[in-house]
Amino acid sequence: MDAKELVNKLNLHEKVSLFVGYDNWRTRKVERLNIPSLRVTDGPHGTRFIPDEDQTVDEGLPAVCFPTASAMAATWNKQLIEQVGVALGQETKAKGAHILLGPAVNIHRTSLGGRNFEYFSEDPFLTGRMAVAYINGLQSQGVGASIKHFACNNSEYERMSISSEVAARALHEIYLPAFRAAVLEAKPWTVMCSYNKINGTYASEHRYLLMTILKEAWDFDGFVVSDWGAVHDRVKAALAGLDLEMPGRPDWFAQELFEAVKKKVVAEKILDDKIFRIFRVMDKAGLFDQQTTTSRENNIAERETIAYHTACEAMVLLKNEGNILPISADKYRKIGVFGYLAEQPTIEGGGSSRVTPHRITKPLDEIKRLANGQYDVFYEPGIILTDNIPVIQNLDRTIELAEKVDIALVFAGLPEFYETEGADRPMMHLPGEYDSWINTILSHNPHTVVVLQSGSPIEMTLWVDQAAGLIEAWYAGQEGGRAVADILFGQVNPSGKLPMTFPRRRIDHSDYPNYPGENGSVLYGEGIFVGYRYYDVKGIEPLFPFGYGLSYSHFEYSSLVLDMSGLQENKAGRVEFEIKNLGKYGGKETAQVYVHDPQSRLIRPVKELKGFEKVWLNPGERKKVHIDLNLWDLAYYDPAEDVWVAECGEYEIRIGSSSRDIHLSGRFILPETYLFNHKGKLIKTKKGFRLSADNLLREILADEGGRKILTKYLGDREKDPRFSLAQGFSLRQISLYAPGEIPPELVAKIDRELRALD
Ligand code: BGC
Repeated sequence: MDAKELVNKLNLHEKVSLFVGYDNWRTRKVERLNIPSLRVTDGPHGTRFIPDEDQTVDEGLPAVCFPTASAMAATWNKQLIEQVGVALGQETKAKGAHILLGPAVNIHRTSLGGRNFEYFSEDPFLTGRMAVAYINGLQSQGVGASIKHFACNNSEYERMSISSEVAARALHEIYLPAFRAAVLEAKPWTVMCSYNKINGTYASEHRYLLMTILKEAWDFDGFVVSDWGAVHDRVKAALAGLDLEMPGRPDWFAQELFEAVKKKVVAEKILDDKIFRIFRVMDKAGLFDQQTTTSRENNIAERETIAYHTACEAMVLLKNEGNILPISADKYRKIGVFGYLAEQPTIEGGGSSRVTPHRITKPLDEIKRLANGQYDVFYEPGIILTDNIPVIQNLDRTIELAEKVDIALVFAGLPEFYETEGADRPMMHLPGEYDSWINTILSHNPHTVVVLQSGSPIEMTLWVDQAAGLIEAWYAGQEGGRAVADILFGQVNPSGKLPMTFPRRRIDHSDYPNYPGENGSVLYGEGIFVGYRYYDVKGIEPLFPFGYGLSYSHFEYSSLVLDMSGLQENKAGRVEFEIKNLGKYGGKETAQVYVHDPQSRLIRPVKELKGFEKVWLNPGERKKVHIDLNLWDLAYYDPAEDVWVAECGEYEIRIGSSSRDIHLSGRFILPETYLFNHKGKLIKTKKGFRLSADNLLREILADEGGRKILTKYLGDREKDPRFSLAQGFSLRQISLYAPGEIPPELVAKIDRELRALD
């Protein structure tokens, strides 16, 4: 099929009508030319397929419910997430849709974000790796991804209208990199733009994001679809780079676009490009093939196995004092299970991502299965949350049971209506009387393990120190019950690591002073210091750091070798080290590579994740791990020049089992500075500039070349007392105070000459 030729056969009415969807999930057909509909369906952690016949219902057809995105990211396992993508692709195809609306890659900026469960992480690199793996898997099945929500939709508060006020560095270094990685490496068929505004402009009308960055700088060749109902001005959106408005509207909605083309406000070729993009995706989906293949939904069991493995690898063991876990018969006989979430687990958050699974494995049933007559299992639901009312039940019985059993397993967490699309969490601690209920059990049994079900961090200062064991079990999907029981009994060695920081207190978190926003906008005041980058720069001790998670084994790191010579030819540098399993259980460890730039022209985070690898090790086994780094991994974005800069100088590579447990480190020197465009193409190499307008006046004057340049433009000011007062300011700062004397254009000129100094 020649997409261009097909576009040329359309008349203007047909063209504009294709800009607006047909119904909730389908694009418009053009019967005259046998052009069928493209069918999309929600994800991201399952195929929530709502039958075409009845779009008024909310419930999708039964589908496998995988762990939600924050749980997926906690696996740190790229191969596994690719398999999840494959499984989702198979199910989507079998149900008859062509695009799955996922993955969702917005950054966890605030710990209260209602959709954090649907998003991977606070870190752009980890999010990017997960997105690439997921999309590769999904699209290998001939099903397209719709990576969402582009961009800066990081909380649900006033999400349809709020303006995310974000500075350029934070935009490029924190909020866009996962989209960039996905577009460049996995080529998603579609990108979904978000509801909110970015710096005052709706995402659906944001020309800089949709055209300059996405389509031009990153060469995105798919189509941009609006979030459902995110279009405010069809003509502006069409001009800004939106290709398809969803959900469907009657086709007279396209009339304004028709008029705009007639009046030449929108050039017809702009419209042609949109349709060309849509047709090209339809072609990839096989919609123009003579015979389209439909697969049968025959391997549910296989998909459930992948959901199970993902749930197992996601669970994070946060505390295990005195090796309270795994449960073994020589230590315990009577097991107390507390909390109705053991019987009715929360497997996912609320909103459009919600899938209805074929089955749900329940922790209580699975614990009973594994107890298998060796242990006596007692159960007390204890606390029930319905419609925001928490009800503690039979506390007397809870205390009685806590005192009677050898080990107490307490299931607590957030019900689905607490973490949901459309509303942020009202608070970070557990709702209602949960905390005092947990405390009651803890004070009557020192052998207590708390299992949390949530998609994002919970404030737990009131009881965490008393709990001997603690597991973050996430919204682990339909197989979560089986997975958590297997971990409690040691059938599976936990290997999940936190994809976000767990603060001690809500007020510690970086977004706190600017949350939720006011008068229609939210200031991203922390800039690039999001998540662990903030805790590092402020020296705040988190409760559990980013990247943290225990195992029933422990691992030793050694023998670091850095070979960074490749970097000088814009090739990969290599980080190599060894890990040994010192424990008696086989297990997986995720080694994390962070880059620290001790001195740079622009302020940088203390360290940034730039590589990781998850490896399996038998007891006593030692393995070499290789991780490649490239110049891009060293680069920051310089908004003054609109370039990415891998600056010459010294770097430190830190290898850790979490962002705070660094086991190995080594330094190397990058002899030159490399400048890249947004796509990552090397545009210039230069000897590192030793001076710029951001240096202090004192530093510039101390340099012979620097002094000459200043004298050339500013004259000899040696004796001017104002000049000596200003020695501790940068030239740029001085210009802010005295723009009349040193105007910004002059600073730019001096800056260029200073940077050009040999
Ligand atoms: C959500 C999207 C979702 C779409 C379709 C919107 O409200 O923000 O993530 O894909 O609805 O259900």
